[in-house]
Amino acid sequence: MPIIAPSLLASDFLHLDRECQMLDESQADWFHLDVMDGRFVPNISYGMSIIKQIRKTTSKFFDVHLMIVEPEKYVEAFKEAGANGLTVHQEACPHLHRNIQQIKSFEMKAGVAINPSTPVFMLQDIIRDVDLVLVMSVNPGFGGQSFIEHSFQKIKELKSLINSTGSSAKIEVDGGISLENAADIIKAGADILVAGSSVFKSENPTETIRKMKEL
Ligand code: DX5
Ligand code: ZN
Repeated sequence: MPIIAPSLLASDFLHLDRECQMLDESQADWFHLDVMDGRFVPNISYGMSIIKQIRKTTSKFFDVHLMIVEPEKYVEAFKEAGANGLTVHQEACPHLHRNIQQIKSFEMKAGVAINPSTPVFMLQDIIRDVDLVLVMSVNPGFGGQSFIEHSFQKIKELKSLINSTGSSAKIEVDGGISLENAADIIKAGADILVAGSSVFKSENPTETIRKMKEL
């Protein structure tokens, strides 16, 4: 069974308490929280003060996806805000190994994300150190984009890199995931599915999560 991590980016921010309660009572495993800085990606979302508020609504795992430059400056602050896992972008981290160790030193799960144009082999020397790899199946910055088909190939490549190195990293896929393509993404090797629009813009988000969970 996949881990389902709905992304709150597509939720109704005016009624965030209601949306969080819905997720808390649903079969969603994780809360996926997208942090954007307007520098690494051409958009700005929300930061630790909002995450701290959301933390009051649930005890579920907070999977924080940092689409920011210089993430090392904020690792402690996100821990304090309630993050359980922090994922940084390979493209934003010239000292990725140090960043991963820093996240772990705060007793959080450490993840690395790769953009659609970043090849899987870039992870060769970090794969044993990370708890998860997030494969971006859209260009980061916005919800509601379409899934890039080439991601299937990357998920398979990543799976074989993990197997051949004895890494225990989980594979998370993020962007353009819906009930239509989720089964194929799992079949390719994904362990964790992030879904924003397909959950929150659906008629019955709880039901959409349930169906995704049962794939
Ligand atoms: C995109 C974010 C995603 C986004 C996914 O930059 O990382 O987590 O919220 O949204 P959908 O599922 O709508 O593509
Ligand atoms: Zn994300």
